[in-house]
Amino acid sequence: MSYKAQLSDQDIVFDVEEHETILEAALRQGHGLPYGCRDGVCGACKAKIISGNISYPNGTPEGLKEKDIKQDYAFLCQAKADCDLTIKARTVETATDIKIRQFPCRVTKCEKLNADVMRLILELPKTERLQFLAGQYIDILMQDDKRRSFSLANAPDQDQQLELHIRHYGGGLFSEYAFTDLTEKTLLRIEGPLGQFTLHESDRPIIMIAGGTGFAPVKSLIEYSLKSNHKRPIQFYWGARTVDDLYLNEMAEAWSSNNEHIQYHPVLSEIEKLNGWAGKTGFVHDAVLNDHADLSSYDIYACGPPPMINAIVDSFPANGLIREQLYSDSFEFAAN
Ligand code: FES
Repeated sequence: MSYKAQLSDQDIVFDVEEHETILEAALRQGHGLPYGCRDGVCGACKAKIISGNISYPNGTPEGLKEKDIKQDYAFLCQAKADCDLTIKARTVETATDIKIRQFPCRVTKCEKLNADVMRLILELPKTERLQFLAGQYIDILMQDDKRRSFSLANAPDQDQQLELHIRHYGGGLFSEYAFTDLTEKTLLRIEGPLGQFTLHESDRPIIMIAGGTGFAPVKSLIEYSLKSNHKRPIQFYWGARTVDDLYLNEMAEAWSSNNEHIQYHPVLSEIEKLNGWAGKTGFVHDAVLNDHADLSSYDIYACGPPPMINAIVDSFPANGLIREQLYSDSFEFAAN
């Protein structure tokens, strides 16, 4: 059995299945509603039920006050729909709609994806969730007020287990630590979500360009769009030096082979180490220019080192790039 939930004052209707909360249903279908703990405590998901009935199978949420219940407010992270509903709720559409907070977290997995890239999984305390938009990043807070920024590599529905891809830089304050001393169970402090590199509403097809670990936010964006059942065509170009640097190549190939609207183009730049490579070669921005004489009908999302972003900004206008349709995130490296 499923019911319809409509957000009043907005043209948004989504399905709520029997087994899920209203918040889970909205997020599953790509509609951002505000939340915090997802545990019935913080009240960040409070919304007014204008019509219809809800229930709390796990009991009335701890943080919901009697006076709020009398005024028809509900905690959407705990409420299930008993019929079709109309709800008055604020939506989260841009990065600025989400409060930036600090969280403690524990490293639960360190996995080397290749010689230079480490995947870290950070787990928040059971009562905490990090609401974020696909493509955003967090800061890891270190001693002496130092901080290092890393893109979130997972889709936003995975809000308690956060995935980071850390590239090894000799002398990098956190990077060096991640490859030497950091272990599973290490405790860290993070701040987020941060950044504006998020998906923008449009009907245009998308070209996504990643350089190196710029793959991380692209992974978040593509996983989010697949989970939300978005069908905008995506051409994904991943630039790397060697095949080994395409550290999740099989994952990207699977996106493409399982989804007609996604095409994947790996591009290698170290010509002397190609070892029989039959794919695209050279710089990733040149590969995009070679394939697209006219870029004016595309939205372009680019994430990677500053030289790659600068090359895109400098060279794409000659092929019709409309500046407002370029969204970029430049990975600056900060030494210790
Ligand atoms: S998200 Fe905290 S009470 Fe619902």
